[in-house]
Amino acid sequence: MTGPDPKCIYPMKDYTKLVFLKNFVKAANIFVGDYTYFDDGRYGPDHFEQYNVLYNYDFSKVKLVIGKFCAIAAEVKFIMTGDHKLDGISTYPFPIFQNGWESVYNISDLPVKGDIIIGNDVWIGYDALIKGGVKIGDGAIIATRAVVVKDVPPYSIVAGNPAKVVKMRFDDKTIERLLQISWWNWDIEKINKNLSLICNLDVDLLEKASLND
Ligand SMILES: CC(C)(COP(=O)(O)OP(=O)(O)OC[C@H]1O[C@@H](n2cnc3c(N)ncnc32)[C@H](O)[C@@H]1OP(=O)(O)O)[C@@H](O)C(=O)NCCC(=O)NCCS
Repeated sequence: MTGPDPKCIYPMKDYTKLVFLKNFVKAANIFVGDYTYFDDGRYGPDHFEQYNVLYNYDFSKVKLVIGKFCAIAAEVKFIMTGDHKLDGISTYPFPIFQNGWESVYNISDLPVKGDIIIGNDVWIGYDALIKGGVKIGDGAIIATRAVVVKDVPPYSIVAGNPAKVVKMRFDDKTIERLLQISWWNWDIEKINKNLSLICNLDVDLLEKASLND
C-alpha cells in the first residue's frame, strides 16, 4: 500500500474537480499540508484563490495555513481581511480610492484580525465561512454553512451562525491522547501500515502503534 502521490495535483483517477491543494495554490501567503484536498464538483478548483480565499490583499500580510489531511468542500470561504475601520464616524474606506483620500489614514491602519490557521485532519463542510484570525483545532468538523468567527477546539463539531460547538467527538482524555499521538505527523509508511487503526476507534491500539516505527 502506498496511497496517492502527495506531490500530484489530481489524486483521483479521471476526476479533475478535486485537487491536492498544496500542489495547486500559487499565492505566497497560502500554506497547505500534504494530502489536504479541495473538491468543487460544480466549478472545479481553478478559482480557489479568487473565489474561496477572499479579501486576500498584499498590504494586510496575513496567511492562510492549512494542515495535513484536511477535506475542504465546495463553496467554503476564507475571509482573510476586509474589515473596515470601526473607530470613526464613517466605516467607508476612503483611502483605498486615493486621489487625495489616502491622506485621511493609511490603508495599513484598516483592521486585520490575523492569520487563519487550520489544523490537521479537519473536515470543512459545504459553504462554511471562516473569518480572519480564526484557529481551527486538529480533528475538528465544520458543519455545512457554519459561520466560524471564533477559534474552534480540537475534535469538536461546530455548526450555525455564529458557529458554536454542537458536539465533542471524544471525551477530554481521549482528545488529549489523540493530540499526543498526532498520527498525521507520522511518516507515510507508518500511516499506511496503521491505516485501519486511524480509521477505527481503538485509541489504545493507535497509541501502541504510535510508539512503534
Ligand atoms: C456537522 C455534521 C458532520 C454533523 O453530523 P452528525 O454528527 O451526524 O450530527 P447531527 O446531525 O446529529 O447534528 C448534531 C447537532 O448539530 C446540528 N447541526 C448539524 N449540522 C448542522 C448545520 N450544518 N447547521 C446547523 N446545525 C447543524 C443538528 O441539528 C444537531 O443539533 P441538536 O443536537 O440540537 O439536535 C453534518 O451535519 C455536516 O454538516 N456535514 C457536512 C456535509 C458536507 O458539507 N459535505 C460536503 C462534502 S465533503
